Amino acid sequence: MHENLFNTDDDIRTHFSDTADSQINELTKELISMSSPIIGTVYDQSKEILSSLVEFKELMMMYKCAIKEIRTKIEVLNTEFNIRYQRNPINFIDTRLKRVTSIIEKMRRKQIPFTIENIEEHINDVAGVRVICSYMDDIYTIADALIQQDDIKLIAKKDYIANPKPNGYRSLHLIVSVPVFFAEQKKDMKVEVQIRTIAMDSWASLEHQLRYKRPMTDESEIAGQLKECADLIAQVDSKMLNIRTKIESNSSEPSEDEILLDKLSKIDTPIE
Ligand code: GTP
Ligand code: MG
Repeated sequence: MHENLFNTDDDIRTHFSDTADSQINELTKELISMSSPIIGTVYDQSKEILSSLVEFKELMMMYKCAIKEIRTKIEVLNTEFNIRYQRNPINFIDTRLKRVTSIIEKMRRKQIPFTIENIEEHINDVAGVRVICSYMDDIYTIADALIQQDDIKLIAKKDYIANPKPNGYRSLHLIVSVPVFFAEQKKDMKVEVQIRTIAMDSWASLEHQLRYKRPMTDESEIAGQLKECADLIAQVDSKMLNIRTKIESNSSEPSEDEILLDKLSKIDTPIE
């Protein structure tokens, strides 16, 4: 009798397992149908986040390349100046890409939603290049030579040397855009260029460090002293420039031999 129902032990196992499988399948189907809108949403959201992250990384790569373009342009000017006038107008160049946390913090402060388009439109200092010059007049020589290049667009200029900030900060700030050529596109990227002397830079670095220290009790007195230092430093910069100009103008007309020697020394100068 039993044989009518189940022919072998194997059949029994198969039957039971079929029943269990189909029950599990039903349950799984039901669970999926219940949760799929959530799984779908989470999946869609992570896909969106991932693609935004990739887009953000690409944007940062583009800013990094814009920094390289500007750095090269300034290095070229320094090399040319060195051979032509036997003098380096630039002491050093410092570059930085703004950190993600600083970008987010700045956008929050300006109440701008965090999107790729908004970063490009509203944040001018994602790419930063700082040029430290020897003398005050070098600042304007370098700035003018950069601005007049026909692929550079000047977006904004703030002259904190002619008009120092109330705290004494001095520096020439340019926001420029430079075309960067990628494999499949050309893109104009914004770069903030800060140009200042060694003296102005040392003041700015120390003032910046002090600002991030613990809040001080006698803040206004310290601000006053910092302002005094900035003004003294500006006087030193002016004096140094005067001394250089005097030396240049006082030197008597060079003899033919001196001119020849000067030309020969140009040939000997290594090109960096
Ligand atoms: P953010 O300060 O970047 O929002 O730009 P802004 O629109 O106020 O431009 P500004 O040209 O005034 O300043 C740009 C940058 O210059 C700053 O991010 C600093 O790197 C530098 N800077 C401006 N003011 C001071 C200052 O008082 N002290 C120091 N140490 N650096 C300054
Ligand atoms: Mg800034």
